[in-house]
Amino acid sequence: AQVEKGGYKHFMAKEIAEQPVVLADALRHYLPKSGLNMPDELDFSNIDRIILIACGTAHYACAVAKYWFEEFARIPCEIDVASEFRYREPPLSARSLAIFVSQSGETADTLAALRYCAENVAKTVAVVNVPSSSIAREADIALPILAGIEVGVASTKAFTAQLLVLAVMALKAGRDRGQIDDEILSAHTEALRSLPGLLNQAMSLSEPIAKLAESLAEAQDILFLGRGPMYPLALEGALKLKEISYIHAEGYASGELKHGPIALIDRSVPVIVMAPHDRLFDKTVSNMQEVMARHGMVLLASDAKGLQIAGDGTWAQIQLPEIAEPFAPILYAVPAQLLAYHTAVAKGTDVDQPRNLAKSVTVE
Ligand code: G6P
Repeated sequence: AQVEKGGYKHFMAKEIAEQPVVLADALRHYLPKSGLNMPDELDFSNIDRIILIACGTAHYACAVAKYWFEEFARIPCEIDVASEFRYREPPLSARSLAIFVSQSGETADTLAALRYCAENVAKTVAVVNVPSSSIAREADIALPILAGIEVGVASTKAFTAQLLVLAVMALKAGRDRGQIDDEILSAHTEALRSLPGLLNQAMSLSEPIAKLAESLAEAQDILFLGRGPMYPLALEGALKLKEISYIHAEGYASGELKHGPIALIDRSVPVIVMAPHDRLFDKTVSNMQEVMARHGMVLLASDAKGLQIAGDGTWAQIQLPEIAEPFAPILYAVPAQLLAYHTAVAKGTDVDQPRNLAKSVTVE
């Protein structure tokens, strides 16, 4: 099918803006009024371990999902990039469930990792955007993310749709294992249902972020910090930015700042702190203050409460609506994507076709 830019300057901008609708479609499918819509064969009750394998942005979706599977279902959960997993030849157990996340469903390393697991785990599950793809066909169960065709090489709407499907899976795992009662389950499903509206609100940040991006475009290095499920989102924010703006960017767990990256901080280094006002907010704020004490340019992305408590003295602020703690990475993906997008536009790079990168890596 021919996909058009529909008035946007780049496919990436269009795909970022499509996310509220994409998530609403996926929610209609996976969370109909009657509850969770997941295949019956996807049963977590006798599983003792979950393995999540992917590459690139899909790997960071897995890294967020690890927090959810552990929190909601209390199942040990390991994640790996497919290129490491496949050659490490890790021992597998018949009670493991292996989940492969891939937008294209054709990434060579992810497919090889799936084949390695196929006969040796309880079930293989594919979370894919292309239902006819090799990974979807070869897995025992395929769950479509329903994001529609994604053209921009830098993945955006596929990432948030992957997260949504993984979140519903983690809730199902919690229910199958009796780890979450109906009340908590319905609080979480309500939170997921609020996402399209919240992402829509976050889209209004595009203009203010475009202004900040003019300064970010001057930077040589940019750090992203996050804690808990926001840590993998910091990694994804850095990946997005480096792949399309060509500015060196690194994501770090806030608590690891003092173990290395703090050595880089000076007036010229923007530090983007992704921190909703959650349980660990105070800890993140103290990491942020260490940056400010060394004159780093802190950009704090938080909610009204977080900005009120910790916004003073930061270089810039981005205000997001409040969101249930576990699902904050889905909402904060939008400002992370917009920061990357507008910084790349400010630098004049080829946003949809960044140099040296391919949309789908079907060879090693
Ligand atoms: C490439 C793309 C990324 C993508 C990764 C994994 O590097 O540029 O956007 O995240 O491959 O692709 P997949 O199709 O398996 O999700």
